[in-house]
Amino acid sequence: MKIAFVASEITPFAKTGGLADVAAALPRTLHHMGHELCVFMPLYARVRNGSFALRAVPDLQNVPLKIGEQTYHFSVLSAVMPASDLTVHLIDCPELFARSSIYTADADEHRRFIMLQRAALESMNIMEFSPEILHCNDWHTALLPLLLKTRYSNHLLFRRTRTVMSIHNIGYQGIFPASAMLDLGIDDVMGHIRHEDRSNGQINWLKEGIVQADVVSTVSPTYAHEICIPAGGYGLDTTLRARGDAVIGILNGVDYHSWNPETDNTLPARYTIDDLSGKAKCKQALLALGKLDAGDDLPVVGLVSRLAHQKGIGLLMDSLPGLLRTRNFALCVLGSGDPQYVEFFNQLMQEYPQRVYFRNGYDESLAHLIEAGSDMFLMPSLYEPCGLNQMYSLKYGTIPIVRNTGGLADSVQMWDGRNGTGIVFNDYDAPAVNWAMNTALDLYRQPAVWQQLIRNGMSQDFSWEKQALRYQQLYQQLLA
Ligand code: ADP
Ligand code: GLC
Repeated sequence: MKIAFVASEITPFAKTGGLADVAAALPRTLHHMGHELCVFMPLYARVRNGSFALRAVPDLQNVPLKIGEQTYHFSVLSAVMPASDLTVHLIDCPELFARSSIYTADADEHRRFIMLQRAALESMNIMEFSPEILHCNDWHTALLPLLLKTRYSNHLLFRRTRTVMSIHNIGYQGIFPASAMLDLGIDDVMGHIRHEDRSNGQINWLKEGIVQADVVSTVSPTYAHEICIPAGGYGLDTTLRARGDAVIGILNGVDYHSWNPETDNTLPARYTIDDLSGKAKCKQALLALGKLDAGDDLPVVGLVSRLAHQKGIGLLMDSLPGLLRTRNFALCVLGSGDPQYVEFFNQLMQEYPQRVYFRNGYDESLAHLIEAGSDMFLMPSLYEPCGLNQMYSLKYGTIPIVRNTGGLADSVQMWDGRNGTGIVFNDYDAPAVNWAMNTALDLYRQPAVWQQLIRNGMSQDFSWEKQALRYQQLYQQLLA
């Protein structure tokens, strides 16, 4: 199949969260499976300043593109996705993309992602790439289905194209004043938008994607149910329910080329399910890095996360101080985000310098070391469309402690004395976190049980090779 894939972030070029991991691994796997991929993302300042080999694509230099009243010029540079020979097309428009962060609160934020979407379509047009599938990801690309049905409806190249709208996180919808739509370059654009969707003077881009795409997917089966009810839909549940069977959930995979303790070169030692001695070395390295005291085989609890409300950090503010007072464990946290959460972890570290380590920031190799060196991994999310770290944890023999929501519910099973891979709690409150942490800390003191939990987790298979088959099947159904 010929598949176009458009995303706002793709690792290793630019990443703020799991979207970047998925937007790298899924196209790469589909490409390995023999499909023809055409992948687009913006060329942000950080990509240009990175150490990537970028090449100008000859026919795609200085292409004029009118957005609103202004004419911009974009060029396309190509880079090779690591561990494959897949080409990624980077849309270069310094005026819009050469900024210090990937996402901004600038007045022209909508124009940045109109550029991504229009430039992707214009580039395919010039390259004469005729996609059978156009796979859109999150609000930044959610106007592509509408563009295909309107401005590009007469293009023969796109005549057979079917669209997939993937929702990675419904908490981010891309809501802009209706006037921003005029910048899209569609004649009578408002005539194409349903009355109820333009009544409050604002247009919700993700909603347009949900309405216009041929199929709407999200990143786990449980999350596909959750977003269809008011509590999880963030205002879009009615729109989603109206799509009926066109809303489906496919669990993300794990890129085991990057996340595998047997081959992970970022670690001080590697290990396997049959020989965990390397894991003990990783734990020592992590404790040394955090200047933590591991006397008496202290269990280490890890956390790597965007520090956002969604991730349940508020719950930890209510539970961790009491847990640290009453139980003996060490805590290693890596994350950045909301200042109140940063302040909270800084204070904990001050109060328990020998048991709490917090690194405020983004650090890929520390994320790997925390996965490998911790005994348990905390993910108390309020909601979690899929979540990747719990699946990394399973592979690294690090027992996940997760809330029963979204992809966490689909990838971690509660330990029942023999089967199961982690500790799963239901309620979004501090007593539930306390119960889960206490249960895990007690199980840690039963070596045979703990070993079995580790083995159960490490033998799970969430590979993209498996999960990409589901996308292949979805595409085939769409084209049938
Ligand atoms: P989300 O996309 O909602 O942030 P996911 O669990 O899907 O959640 O993916 C998060 C990804 O970002 C993981 O690969 C995780 O390791 C990584 N990550 C999050 N915060 C950091 C950080 N501070 N430093 C390094 N990696 C991080
Ligand atoms: C989002 C979600 C996360 C998911 C990721 C990749 O950022 O918050 O749960 O794993 O996208 O799909």
